[in-house]
Amino acid sequence: MSGHGAAQPMTARRAGPLTGRADVPGDKSISHRALIFGAMAVGETRITGLLEGQDVLDTAKAMRAFGAEVVQHGPGAWSVHGVGVGGFSEPADVIDCGNSGTGARLIMGCMATHAMTATFTGDASLRKRPMGRVTDPLSLFGAQAYGRKGGRLPMTLVGAANPVPVRYATPVASAQVKSAVLLAGLNAPGQTVVIEREATRDHSERMLLGFGAELTVEKTAEGNVITLTGQPELRPQTVAVPRDPSSAAFPVCAALVVEGSDVFVPGVSQNLTRNGLYITLVEMGADIAFENPREEGGEPVADLRVRFGPMKGIEVPPERAPSMIDEYPILSVVAAFAEGVTVMRGVKELRVKESDRIDAMARGLEACGVRIEEDEDTLTVHGMGPGGVPGGATCKTHIDHRIAMSFLILGMAAKAPVSVDDASPIATSFPIFEGLMRSLGADLG
Ligand code: S3P
Repeated sequence: MSGHGAAQPMTARRAGPLTGRADVPGDKSISHRALIFGAMAVGETRITGLLEGQDVLDTAKAMRAFGAEVVQHGPGAWSVHGVGVGGFSEPADVIDCGNSGTGARLIMGCMATHAMTATFTGDASLRKRPMGRVTDPLSLFGAQAYGRKGGRLPMTLVGAANPVPVRYATPVASAQVKSAVLLAGLNAPGQTVVIEREATRDHSERMLLGFGAELTVEKTAEGNVITLTGQPELRPQTVAVPRDPSSAAFPVCAALVVEGSDVFVPGVSQNLTRNGLYITLVEMGADIAFENPREEGGEPVADLRVRFGPMKGIEVPPERAPSMIDEYPILSVVAAFAEGVTVMRGVKELRVKESDRIDAMARGLEACGVRIEEDEDTLTVHGMGPGGVPGGATCKTHIDHRIAMSFLILGMAAKAPVSVDDASPIATSFPIFEGLMRSLGADLG
C-alpha cells in the first residue's frame, strides 16, 4: 500500500453492462478534517462513515502521536478524545503521512503554532511533492521549516512558541494551503485572514463553524476573504461523513462508458466546491438523473442514476478546475469514449498531485491508442466514440490511486484489456473499489 509493499498488477476486461447500486465510501477530505478538528476540541467527537482508507488511517495515527485518543468502534465508527486548541504534545517519533498531501499539509498547519518540533515524511510519491506552499505561510506565524531541496519531505518543522496571526493571500488555488493556514491560526491570538482568489473546497470552513469557531467568509472583488478568530474553545461534535464525490466519479464514469450500463449511486455531494465533474459530464451529454436532493452530514447531496449513452467532447473552462481538481484523470477516460475533442485548460496543478497526472494520463492513453496533446497547463483528448478505444496496454500508475482506477475503467470499455502495473495505491482512498466494481458486473482482477 502507498508504494511501500509489493506492486499489485491488475487487469480490466470489457464485460457486459454494469448494473446495480454503488455505495461509495466516506469523503476523504472530510474524514481527515473530522479527525484533526476532533483532536483540537476538548472532549469526545464521534464520527460515523469515516473513510478507512490508508490516507485517513495515517492521519488517525498522527493525531495519536500528538496526544489525542483515537479509537475505532466498528466499521466507519470512530471516536476522538481531543486535547483542545494548543494542547498538542510533542510527538516522540517521525510523523509518516504515507501517500497523503492533505494529511501532511493540514497536520503541519496545526502543529506550526505549538512550541514543539516534529519531523514529517511520507512515501516516495509524497516525498516528491512541494511543501513550500504551506511552509511559506506557516513561517509568517513564526514557525521554521527545514526540509530537503525544493521544500520536500522529510522535513522538520519547529513550531512558533509565540505565534502571531497572519493575513495571507494564497498564490495557488488550494484547499490544503487554505486549511493549513486556518489550522495554524487556531492557536494564534487575534484574527488570521486567508484570501483565496478562486473558491476551493470549503470543508474546513464548514467544520470550523460546526466545532464552534468564530469564522466569517466575505465574497469580495479579491475573492473569498476568510477571517478566523484565534484561540477558540472548540466543542466536540458528532460528525456524519458523507460519501466521497471523487470516489463516486469512478462508478459514475464507468457506467457512462460501458455499453448498456445503468447504475444507481446514492448520496453524491452537490457541494458547489466539489461538483465540477458532474456539471461537465452533463455538458458532454451524459445521461445522469439527479434524484432526491437533500442534506446529509451538512452537505447537499443527490442520488445519481447513470446510464450509458453517447457523449460529445467539450472545452472545460479553466475556472472550473478547483471544483473538479481530482476528477481530470477519470474525465480524460470519459473524453476518450466521447465523439470529438475535449480540451482541459488551467490544469497545471495536476502536475504536483500524487503523480504528474497530466503526464501519467497522456502516456497511458497514448499506449491505449488515444490521440492526446498536452502542454504545461492543458490536456487535450481526441475522442474515439463509444467502445472505440483500442486498449491493450499496461499503464503505469506512479503510486497514484486515481490514475490506477482511471485506467482500470478505461479497460472495462476498451476493445482489448487494459492492465495497470500497480493497483495497491487504490487502498489510500477507495479500499472497496475492486469488490464494488465487480458487484456491478466489471471483469477485474
Ligand atoms: C484536498 C484538496 C485538494 C485535493 C486533495 C484533497 C483537501 O488538493 O486535490 O485530494 O482535502 O483539502 P489542493 O488543495 O492541493 O488542490
